Amino acid sequence: MTIRNILTEPNKLLRQISQKVDKVGKDEQKLMDDMLETMYSANGIGLAAIQIGVPKRIIVMDLSKEKEKKPMFFVNPEINNKNKIHSVYEEGCLSVPNQFAEIERPSTCEVKYLDYNGNEKILKAEGLLATCIQHEMDHLEGVLFIDYLSKLKKSIIIKKLSKQKDKIDRIVV
Ligand code: NI
Repeated sequence: MTIRNILTEPNKLLRQISQKVDKVGKDEQKLMDDMLETMYSANGIGLAAIQIGVPKRIIVMDLSKEKEKKPMFFVNPEINNKNKIHSVYEEGCLSVPNQFAEIERPSTCEVKYLDYNGNEKILKAEGLLATCIQHEMDHLEGVLFIDYLSKLKKSIIIKKLSKQKDKIDRIVV
């Protein structure tokens, strides 16, 4: 498994629409392994493939709070039955480092997807799981949580992020 570099906003790649996966094969499984490793090393709870620069409709998540890991893999996810009742969570994103905002989303939803082995599954999601899967699925459409904020708030965040990028000379050894 390889830890990959996570793209951060502003970056045009993050705005790309990801493509459907034809079949879940060895390459896709290797990608999911790398994504999971990358997500864990960055202390995230969800990651979409485009966040490491791969425009495929693949998401990994792990919402377990205990030491025991419970990874979830979603290939070609589709959302149905979004609840009209919304809930609010304070969201962050590995591609929008150190920025958080309260975002309102449907409180429950149903997700149809292929799992790690390419089997078709349906998941009824609520609470944090529902919010997280919707956040990750936005990535597949090139959408970030800051897009739900007012223009002003969003531009302030992007300015901050651009400054952070200019300032930091990052070395990876
Ligand atoms: Ni994100």
